[in-house]
Amino acid sequence: MSQIMEQTNAHIMGTYGRNEVVVDHGTGATCTDENGKQYIDFGSGIGTTSLGFCNEAWAQAVCEQVRKVQHTSNLFYHAPQAQLAEKLCAMSGYSKVFFGNSGAEANECAIKLARKYSFDKYGEGRNTIITLVNSFHGRTIATLSATGQDVFHIYFFPFVGGFRYAKANDIADLHEKLDDTVCAIMIEYVQGEGGVMALDQAFVDEIRKICDERDILMIADEVQTGIGRTGRLFAGEYFGVKADVTTAAKGIGGGLPIGVCLANAKCQDVLGKGAHGSTFGGNPVVCAGAVKVLETLDAPGFLEGVREKAAYLRSRLEALDEVEAVSGLGFMIGITLKTKKAPEVLAACIDKGLLVLTAKEKVRLLPPLTITQKELEAGADILCSVLEG
Ligand SMILES: Cc1ncc(COP(=O)(O)O)c(C=O)c1O
Repeated sequence: MSQIMEQTNAHIMGTYGRNEVVVDHGTGATCTDENGKQYIDFGSGIGTTSLGFCNEAWAQAVCEQVRKVQHTSNLFYHAPQAQLAEKLCAMSGYSKVFFGNSGAEANECAIKLARKYSFDKYGEGRNTIITLVNSFHGRTIATLSATGQDVFHIYFFPFVGGFRYAKANDIADLHEKLDDTVCAIMIEYVQGEGGVMALDQAFVDEIRKICDERDILMIADEVQTGIGRTGRLFAGEYFGVKADVTTAAKGIGGGLPIGVCLANAKCQDVLGKGAHGSTFGGNPVVCAGAVKVLETLDAPGFLEGVREKAAYLRSRLEALDEVEAVSGLGFMIGITLKTKKAPEVLAACIDKGLLVLTAKEKVRLLPPLTITQKELEAGADILCSVLEG
């Protein structure tokens, strides 16, 4: 074990199951460890380095901003935050945004917004949020409470009340969970941590219909699915549905911490002065980088290219005997295996110079959106050889 691993394990709380790779530097979809070994990256730091390692335009914007002004507080204005907000609203069709620092914070904002929307209009008593069984919404106490997995509901009592879990794709169960206390329904279009499982069109349509009929907010947690990951800016586009509130994080920062909560015209002004805040949220350096991420996604043909690359990788995987099924959307890929175990596949891939992820019993792939065809083919070759080996 290297000195860096020993230092880490000695002084950092052991909350992560780390792989024995010390990432030293990277470019594009390839990184190099402390011993000079190279890896193709099919994980993007869990869907975060959307433009790969140290993308030139992104790095330049970040470096320029860090030398100009690195932080101001949200008691003042600054250009990168304004530019990012305008671009995000223009690209997404949402009206206003709140900036935080992570996916969990983006979801905290959405939860607060939904409860206040209902309080402002209907008074007390309408504060239940329906989320889905097997969902994942973050690690803060409120977002853990929102997460519909029993495994996350131990040790940290008391959890936040007012969450109810409906079974994904079960319309009857969803209706059973509804009553007059409900103020929002919160979903991931593709459950990421839960095992890369997409919702059915009919289920998503029913959620939109219920939310319209009852004037409750539809919240889409697009922390993992959003910002080009599925080959669209937001995965909701595949379903032809627009949530009232959409959260994003991960990929929008290109590797720097950011969380965004987007609201439509109906609820854009619910959180007024003093109702919410964040010291670092919308930090100038992070926002300057995020503008470059969005500009990249917005370039003609870029997202189409992501969809094509995803289709290529999926078809390579689907052709393998060992692969039972390939799930997810676009570059959010879950692989169900017939005989092999996902952790063993992950270890064998690392050995051969490929970084992959797992989700539940599946191998999960979230390659950088900018990966070149050459890197993609080289990574696919390694993965296929491991799966067929
Ligand atoms: C769908 C979803 N929501 C929220 C989160 C939490 O994001 P963060 O770790 O940035 O707080 C995640 C993280 O994996 C996620 O996948």
